[in-house]
Amino acid sequence: MNVLGIETSCDETAVSIVRDGRFVLSNIVSSSIKFHKKYGGVIPEIASRLHLETIGYVLDESLKESKVNLEDIDLVAVTSQPGLKGSLLVGGCFAKAIAFALNIPLLKVDHLHAHIYAAFLVFGAIKEVPKPERLFPFIGLVVSGGHTSLFYVKDFTKIEPLGSTLDDACGEAFDKVAKILNLGYPGGPLIEKLAKRGNSQKVRFGTIRTQRPLDFSFSGIKTAVLYMIENKFKIKGRKALSFNEKRDIAASFQEAVIESLIEKAFLACRKKGAHILVIGGGVAANNRLREKFSQKANLENLTLYTSALEFCTDNAAMVGGLGYMLFKRGRIKNLVNN
Ligand code: KG4
Ligand code: ZN
Repeated sequence: MNVLGIETSCDETAVSIVRDGRFVLSNIVSSSIKFHKKYGGVIPEIASRLHLETIGYVLDESLKESKVNLEDIDLVAVTSQPGLKGSLLVGGCFAKAIAFALNIPLLKVDHLHAHIYAAFLVFGAIKEVPKPERLFPFIGLVVSGGHTSLFYVKDFTKIEPLGSTLDDACGEAFDKVAKILNLGYPGGPLIEKLAKRGNSQKVRFGTIRTQRPLDFSFSGIKTAVLYMIENKFKIKGRKALSFNEKRDIAASFQEAVIESLIEKAFLACRKKGAHILVIGGGVAANNRLREKFSQKANLENLTLYTSALEFCTDNAAMVGGLGYMLFKRGRIKNLVNN
């Protein structure tokens, strides 16, 4: 079965063809990030207009790469939530038009659930991927620019939310701290690069305790970074940080965020008696995070599945893949007329 996946929830216009829910035949992502960079964040109106301009070309490219004809598509899956309203609308209408024209079913997919599903996609050199249905139940952790959420995944139709961020998402915290350090946008990869040779023990940034232990809070740590720098300036009468200071702050901040994610994710596993943890979302592309989670999983005797790098940030393969799974499980309530 050939599934056409469509993703437009933020600044990426993405179209993918996925066979039988696992085999990614094409994965085209066009990002409008360069148009948002100067604002230091995604501007919804610009994003939705650019989706509209780009999506037809992205579809053509995706079909070309997959060598599948449009008429050979059996199902359309599109991200329906959460995301920027205007951007979701473009993808949703485009998906509806294709499904209607081809007279094939259309399924709506939750973006966060799709980020978890991304760990099970087979693509290029990535072959050693288990089928998710053999792993249920497991804990899913989504770490992205807009969300930080823990789920108990009994099946892809039975996903129970366990906790989420009360303020900033962890990717958002990376972006804001990068802004404070004058690094640019998006901040995650820039902080990671800078942190590589930094001393993560130089500053102890802590995250705030949340009332519910499986919730997250990252706004305090961002403010702590800001105050620490302001104090440094006040005391030393300087106006800029040295390169070494910047990289120590980046490394210390990154370490504190990862520590908080590890603490909550493994607590969720213990609470639910789960032996498998699956991580997805843009921040899961962070190599230090991958390394530390993997060390902890070994220590705790847990199995860890992390999305391949190309499927961490927003893409449509994860949407097509999950769409297939839901369709096979009889999700017909979400079809084109509903
Ligand atoms: O999942 P995603 O592409 O979009 C959302 O659904 O939000 O995630 C984007 C987020 C951004 O905040 C970006 O800074 C962060 O993921 N990110 C990273 C890395 N690569 C992307 N954060 C930390 N380290 C990275 N290597
Ligand atoms: Zn995302």
